[in-house]
Amino acid sequence: MKLFVDTGNLKEVEALAALGILDGATTNPSLLAKEGGDARQILRQICRLVQGPVSAEVVATDTAGMLREGRELAAIDEHIVIKVPFTKDGVRACKALASEGHRVNVTLVFSAAQAWLAAKVGAAYVSPFVGRLDDIGATGMDLARQIVDIFQRGRYATELLVASVRHPIHIIEAARMGADVATAPAAVIEQCFRHPLTDIGLERFLKDWEKAQAARV
Ligand code: G3P
Repeated sequence: MKLFVDTGNLKEVEALAALGILDGATTNPSLLAKEGGDARQILRQICRLVQGPVSAEVVATDTAGMLREGRELAAIDEHIVIKVPFTKDGVRACKALASEGHRVNVTLVFSAAQAWLAAKVGAAYVSPFVGRLDDIGATGMDLARQIVDIFQRGRYATELLVASVRHPIHIIEAARMGADVATAPAAVIEQCFRHPLTDIGLERFLKDWEKAQAARV
């Protein structure tokens, strides 16, 4: 399973890219608005750091506007994936952009029917927001599982990109069910590194080694 970071923060992307664990990145208008500055410039730099798919979202809500913005975003860098919201206008825009050869990520997906429709119009990725479903008392990962099933049985080329990830368990469940990608905030990726027994174990190894060295002199 591929790992994307869900951020507009260059320092976060830089640190994770340096670890060699990043396959791509996702952004959204909220994440980029938080950073301030020139969004196009930020996106260009994320692409340079990641050297993989970087989702950049349109803010237009009509098909014509989405097409115009989508083409402008795609011109920023070859790694840009155009992100459109799941609406009827978004579905129309996805179909048109995909037929021009652009990769499209259909976002704000909250049902299996929406994911299936996005796949039918040639989305490269669909992004179910599992955390936001959990937030309202549903089980987000149940939706992800339904989408895996639909895409596998229907042999759709669309990739399932599990989004709105809140903790490492979301990532592990996504990997176990055969999702193509999980996108997570840097803080959640950081949590994946941690285990107290690793720290305790390393401390003990080093102490034992030092003791043995001291006994030799
Ligand atoms: O980028 C889309 C998605 O991952 C947003 O997540 O945490 O705002 O629900 P969140």
